[in-house]
Amino acid sequence: MSHDIRILDAAAARAALPALTGILVDCVNGGASVGFMNPFGPSNAIPWWDGIIEEVEAGRTILFGALLDGEIVGTAQLIPATKPNQPHRADVSKLLVHSRARGRGIGAALMQSVEDEARRRGLRLLVLDTATGSDAERLYPRLEWERTGVIPDYALWPDGGLCDTTVFYKRL
Ligand SMILES: CC(C)(COP(=O)(O)OP(=O)(O)OC[C@H]1O[C@@H](n2cnc3c(N)ncnc32)[C@H](O)[C@@H]1OP(=O)(O)O)[C@@H](O)C(=O)NCCC(=O)NCCS
Repeated sequence: MSHDIRILDAAAARAALPALTGILVDCVNGGASVGFMNPFGPSNAIPWWDGIIEEVEAGRTILFGALLDGEIVGTAQLIPATKPNQPHRADVSKLLVHSRARGRGIGAALMQSVEDEARRRGLRLLVLDTATGSDAERLYPRLEWERTGVIPDYALWPDGGLCDTTVFYKRL
């Protein structure tokens, strides 16, 4: 079984909408704190993805898809800062891998592709945050991201209860 990472333009993202929807629903239903509350299903995920595809179309978001045996099982976003005084910076958002495809390096490969594309664009600083205690929190230091600190009670877990967030950055 082999995987590869691609940048999805708006047309490719639209074609991948069922898979992207499935990934987001799987992650939220599985307890990932990525901005949504349960109950969460395709009727919640599809409008959100439609909004992301508009951002892709406008060139404000670079969307990545991870394919495993030809099927999209993971995704991530690179969002260059729009402020005039931050032309060198971007946020990394919504690193998501379907639970059935985890633990084989797809999350790390997505992050590697995000960083490579950021470098190609001349970006020099990436920032992200992730729920403290999540699987993702272990991934970023392995990829040489620096842990800035923890913000307590930043968000809710999808089934309720406050969770802290850990802020990371990486200089490219
Ligand atoms: C965080 C997330 C993206 C990681 O995706 P993933 O594809 O499982 O990531 P990787 O496979 O690169 O790494 C996961 C683990 O598998 C291990 N691994 C990687 N390749 C492996 C392989 N070939 N064989 C065995 N283990 C492997 C890694 O060492 C890592 O171990 P750890 O759990 O002890 O830290 C995924 O868990 C996810 O989508 N979580 C829910 C959403 C979320 O929280 N996203 C973060 C938002 S900021």
